[in-house]
Amino acid sequence: MIVVTSVLPRPSPATARTARPRHYLMCRPDHFEVRYAINPWMHPDVPVDRERALAQWDALRRTYLDLGHRVDLLDPVPGLPDMVYTANGATVVDGLVLGARFRHPERAAEAQAHRAWFAAAGHPVVEPEFVNEGEGDLLVVGDVVLAGCGFRTDPRAHAEAAAVLGREVVALELVDPRYYHLDTAIAVLDETTVAWLPAAFTPAAQEVLRARFPDALVADPADAAVLGLNAVSDGRHVVLPAQAVGLAAALAERGFVPVPVDLSELRKGGGGPKCCTLEVRA
Ligand code: ARG
Repeated sequence: MIVVTSVLPRPSPATARTARPRHYLMCRPDHFEVRYAINPWMHPDVPVDRERALAQWDALRRTYLDLGHRVDLLDPVPGLPDMVYTANGATVVDGLVLGARFRHPERAAEAQAHRAWFAAAGHPVVEPEFVNEGEGDLLVVGDVVLAGCGFRTDPRAHAEAAAVLGREVVALELVDPRYYHLDTAIAVLDETTVAWLPAAFTPAAQEVLRARFPDALVADPADAAVLGLNAVSDGRHVVLPAQAVGLAAALAERGFVPVPVDLSELRKGGGGPKCCTLEVRA
C-alpha cells in the first residue's frame, strides 16, 4: 500500500474547540470620556473621539451577534463615563447576581444601575459588603472563580463571593498597575484553558496558576501591553484586540479562532473587549 503523506489531511488540533452560545450585557459609550485617571492607561489631557469609540463599540456588539450570541443593553447614565465597561458591574453565576462595589467614588453609582437592571430582568441580586469590581476581578473558569486583588477588589470580597456564588474562589494577587484588573492579565478561553501574563502576578499567584493550568498559554508582554488578554471567548472564537497579533497567532495554533476587534479608543479608558462585556450566566 502506498501512503502519500503529503495529501493526508492535516491532523486536527488535539482538542476540538466548541463554541457555546453566550448572553452578554453591554452599555453604549454615549457618555464615554476620560476626565479622571484611576488607572495608568487614562490620560485626561489626551482627547477621546467619542464617535469613534461608539463605532468601535458597535462593531464589537455586532461581532457577538454575528457569532450567534445574545447581547442585552444597559442604559448609559450621564456622568458615568466608565459605564461602557460593564464587566465591572456584577458577577453572574447560575443566574444569581453578586453586585459590584467600586473602589473609586467616580464609578460607585454604576453598581446600582447594574443591580436595578438585573433585578428588573428577574435575577436574584446580592449587594456586597466589600469592594469587588465584578468580572474585572472575578473570572469564572469551569467550576472555580479566579479572584484578583492588589489594586481594586478587596481580598475580603473573595470569601464573600465564594459564599454568595457557591463556588471555590482562588485568590490571585496582581502587582503591575497596568494590569490592575484580573481580566487584563488573564483570559479565560474555555472551562479548563487560560492565557496569562506571569509578570502581572506575585510569585505565589504564579505558582497557583501554574499548578492549576499547566497547559496555559503564556502571553507575550507585547500582547498584554495592548490589552490583548482582555479577551472574550465562547470556547472557540476568541474576540481580542486587533493589535495583539502574537496572541492571535498563538490562539490559532491551539485550535481557537481569533476574532480581532479594534477598540483603540476605549483603551484610552483602560479597557478592551472583555471590559465592555459582562457575561450573564443562566
Ligand atoms: N476606566 C475603568 C477603570 O479604571 C476601566 C475599567 C476596565 N474594565 C475592566 N474590566 N478591566 O475602572
